[in-house]
Amino acid sequence: MTLQEFLDTARAIERDAIAAIQGASSTDALTAVRNAFVGRKSGRITDLMKALPSLPQEARREAGAEVNRVKTLAERALEERERGLAPAGDATEVDLTMPAREQWRGAKHPVTLVIDEIVEIFRQLGFTIALGPEAEHEWYNFGALNVPPDHPAMDMHDTLYLGDGALLRTHTSPVQVRTLQRWAPPVRVLIPGNVYRRDFFDPSHAPMFSQVEGLAIDEGVSFVDLKATLTHFAKRFFGAAKTRFRPSFFPFTEPSAEMDVECRLCGGVGCAACKGTGWMEILGSGMVHPRVLDAAGVDSETYTGWAFGMGPGRIALQRYGIPDIRILYDSDVRFLEQIAR
Ligand code: PHE
Repeated sequence: MTLQEFLDTARAIERDAIAAIQGASSTDALTAVRNAFVGRKSGRITDLMKALPSLPQEARREAGAEVNRVKTLAERALEERERGLAPAGDATEVDLTMPAREQWRGAKHPVTLVIDEIVEIFRQLGFTIALGPEAEHEWYNFGALNVPPDHPAMDMHDTLYLGDGALLRTHTSPVQVRTLQRWAPPVRVLIPGNVYRRDFFDPSHAPMFSQVEGLAIDEGVSFVDLKATLTHFAKRFFGAAKTRFRPSFFPFTEPSAEMDVECRLCGGVGCAACKGTGWMEILGSGMVHPRVLDAAGVDSETYTGWAFGMGPGRIALQRYGIPDIRILYDSDVRFLEQIAR
């Protein structure tokens, strides 16, 4: 072989190598190209190097430099191409029929979903949101709400006292008073929040649970408004379910009534969830007592109104057919996944 033939062969191999490396579309194909050009035992560049000693002595220096240049260039191109190919291999090996891997990203808690729905229904009726503290003063929780000091609710067994006249609120009703102190009527607010009671955890009681309070105060507001609004709410929320009002008692409302909805779990026939009655109590309500208005600085001669308090946890049990309130607070993701939207 002459020097010129050697150099021409080297350039031809260079062109072929670059083309083959660029054309390799998988790591397997690239390995084949590597073997064909720079394989340890044979390969076009390897073979050319082996041909060096057959050249005349004075030609070897230039020829050696050239074949080394081509080898280095080919090796760099191989490395670069290898990085460019997916490590998992060929793009054609991806199985597009494989189901996607599902990822749990978290979602709203069932009780929050219910609160959001309640808030939306009342928002359309002109109610806005008000909030108050969970650590509350005794006066707001009881005194201003016309709860007498010897009332059983004030008992240490029901209320978590914090000392110095402070307690964990046992209901959202203190925010009625805080709202009326701050805003002059007409007032229409919805008050969602957590409340605390020294209850044992059982299928229908939890020591902390959420409530949604409603308050509507204006001139000439009557019990008819209460009944019509709450019935409208139940129709929107529960569909065509039947409702009924039962007389009740709260120190801060007069008259007072509880509203029941036909049990969604048994369709009103009677089951364990509704204790065989066919009805589910969803809220307490009544006309705000004049003493509450006076305590909040609202003229009870001019203004009247109504209030209600409901438990979205209980409502969530009904809505989603959950048999035990404790499931709501277990944070078991398998349960939450079933309900989350
Ligand atoms: N605060 C009462 C409770 O926790 C519910 C209620 C609110 C009743 C407003 C009447 C009016 O049981």
